[in-house]
Amino acid sequence: MSAPMNAPGHAAHDDSPVGIYTRSAGSAREWWRVSLSERANMYRIEHGQGEAGQVDVDTVVDLDNLEAKLLKWRREGFVSETGREDEERAARAGSAFVTELRLASARAREARASAAPAHDAGTQTPSHTVRIGGVDMPLGHQDALVPRLNEAYLFTEREDDILQDIVENRRIMLIGHTGSGKTSFIEQVAARTRNGVLRANMNGQTTIGDFVGFWTVKGGETVWVDGVLPTAMREGYWLIIDELDFAEPSILAVLTAVLEPGGRLLLKERGNEIVEPHPSFRLFATANAAGAMSAYRHLYQGANLLNEAFLDRWRVYLVDYLTPEEETEVLLRTLPALTRPLAQTLAAIAADCRAAFAREDLASAFSTRRLLDWAELMLRNGDPERAAGPSIYAKVSAEDAALIRSIVRHHLIFDAN
Ligand SMILES: Nc1ncnc2c1ncn2[C@@H]1O[C@H](COP(=O)(O)OP(=O)(O)O)[C@@H](O)[C@H]1O
Ligand SMILES: [Mg+2]
Repeated sequence: MSAPMNAPGHAAHDDSPVGIYTRSAGSAREWWRVSLSERANMYRIEHGQGEAGQVDVDTVVDLDNLEAKLLKWRREGFVSETGREDEERAARAGSAFVTELRLASARAREARASAAPAHDAGTQTPSHTVRIGGVDMPLGHQDALVPRLNEAYLFTEREDDILQDIVENRRIMLIGHTGSGKTSFIEQVAARTRNGVLRANMNGQTTIGDFVGFWTVKGGETVWVDGVLPTAMREGYWLIIDELDFAEPSILAVLTAVLEPGGRLLLKERGNEIVEPHPSFRLFATANAAGAMSAYRHLYQGANLLNEAFLDRWRVYLVDYLTPEEETEVLLRTLPALTRPLAQTLAAIAADCRAAFAREDLASAFSTRRLLDWAELMLRNGDPERAAGPSIYAKVSAEDAALIRSIVRHHLIFDAN
């Protein structure tokens, strides 16, 4: 407890602190100090920054006011010094478990590494890999269905678990708001590992026939046409089932059979033909309002609740929008003509619009795609308002357009830096 105790200029009454609330460390350290005031039932609060202990706010408040301040500080990330001690105690108590877990995890990793066949000395095809984030991923075979590489795509560390799941051939479901980057994440991993991708969107006309296959007459002959699922399984493509929470029950039923790793597909329509999964086949789903996102179901009209038994067959990852810092990077990488202050203001506008969407003040989501498109257009015509017409305003209701316009104006006026 260094800085606050040394803060200069205290009156000669009992000024031992009632509490000290800090956030950050080093020169970024910021603190609020609460002590008893000379006046009855009043509290002195002081604020300072850095280790030097210079006080920049020194005022007296009553108990109600103090309680409001305590709440506000907690929201802003301040932690009481005593709270910090409790946290440390809790961490020490948990550490025996965590230490043992780390050892067990290291042993499991070693066992996996020695069990994996290194390079198959007998065959001509050495297994090449490409590193994404912290994970070595096997390369697929180049194919016309490999998605186009987006050089500006930003991978973040928190995605390593998903990448490892792909290597291990787990079934992966990405849930999150529309435009948060669920589909593009899988596509960009596929682009880098050179795996072909097939997509089926469940929020449209995808029928069980499109999905599984159907009989048709061609040149007088009845022929079977594989649907997207058996095609991906036979050819070893990655299949992305988009907006799975809109799928018909018959599709979910077929899917359940192939969810086990190595799960096979039974084509009843073809006299119970069994489709074995190719080793490169991977299955992904995206959803807007399933599981942890179900609180937002009202924003996605018609989305079905996926039951827990079904969800338990997947690893389910929550995908959030990029942070303003990440989105600033993506803007700068995608559109090098932008400057950092411009990109920062645009990212802040997107963040405000998303907050308004989550509060239901806006009915339309604000995707990174929309932001990039708007930025590209304003670079071309030099006019943010005019550029917002075709990229934003014309796509949303009049009420939404009015609110977005006010958010934009606010930032254009006040972010002048
Ligand atoms: N990490 C990222 N790096 C770069 N661009 C991103 C990133 N995440 C999302 N985007 C952009 O956002 C757009 C929308 O993402 P998309 O995957 O279609 O969202 P969703 O499937 O969640 O609706 C993508 O086309 C891409 O341009
Ligand atoms: Mg998508």
